[in-house]
Amino acid sequence: MKGVILAGGLGTRLRPLTNITNKHLLPLYDKPMIFYPINTLVGAGITEVMIVTGGSSAGDFLRLLGDGSQFGLRILNYAYQVREGGIAEAIGLTSAFVGGDRFVVILGDNILEGSIRPYVEAFERQAGGARILLKEVPNPRDYGVAELDGSRVVSIQEKPAEPRSSHAVIGVYMYDGFAFDFISRLQPSARGELEVTDLNNAYLERGLLQADVLEGWWSDAGSSIDGYLEANVRVAELSRRSACGGTAG
Ligand code: DAU
Repeated sequence: MKGVILAGGLGTRLRPLTNITNKHLLPLYDKPMIFYPINTLVGAGITEVMIVTGGSSAGDFLRLLGDGSQFGLRILNYAYQVREGGIAEAIGLTSAFVGGDRFVVILGDNILEGSIRPYVEAFERQAGGARILLKEVPNPRDYGVAELDGSRVVSIQEKPAEPRSSHAVIGVYMYDGFAFDFISRLQPSARGELEVTDLNNAYLERGLLQADVLEGWWSDAGSSIDGYLEANVRVAELSRRSACGGTAG
């Protein structure tokens, strides 16, 4: 299983913090933000990772992360996204790295309390297709939202004005190699991006999408300055708890 971390984008919602650097290089408590998604993948047993980034701070990722051995990575590769063409476009850039393997994508600003290992193992047992993770939130309008029939996903909408549920689709996605065929057929959305929600719907329409509800907290540290603050506080608490004998990512 390979891993992909998306760390491009403009980070406009965190300006002026992101005026001169990439959002994923900002501190989250005592580490740069990008350390957390790397540790999330490593904690799930994934040791071959590609980071997609862009903009003028791309070289700083190499200076910070090097060959990834400090995290226990066997392979750390990088891809450059020329413009903010969307999450699905960024995933498409990893096609040669992924080859025909299955892979896990994590958005570089998505911070999780617990391990994703159980979900990755469930995906490994799945015949093929895709697997997404859901979390109930008070503000579903800010996210991709999954409409459910029992535990089955029946539709996904990107940032809907009238959400059909409070289940956000979080930024951890698991795909088989067909993802790249689906991405090549996507059309840009009204905001000019190839949307990950359209990729997930391509799997859903074919009956190939499974979902789990995530245990533990999840923060979108790049969603707003308040989301960034919330993620800092949560990570600090987790780190203090782990110093007292618990675990941390
Ligand atoms: O956080 C979960 C949400 O992430 C999902 O619920 C939404 O369905 C999904 O569209 C996404 O929404 P956001 O508005 O939060 O996406 P954002 O533009 O903040 O980008 C998320 C990450 O992906 C961020 O860490 C940067 C990276 N990215 C984004 C774009 C648009 C790229 O690497 N390249 C891109 O072109």
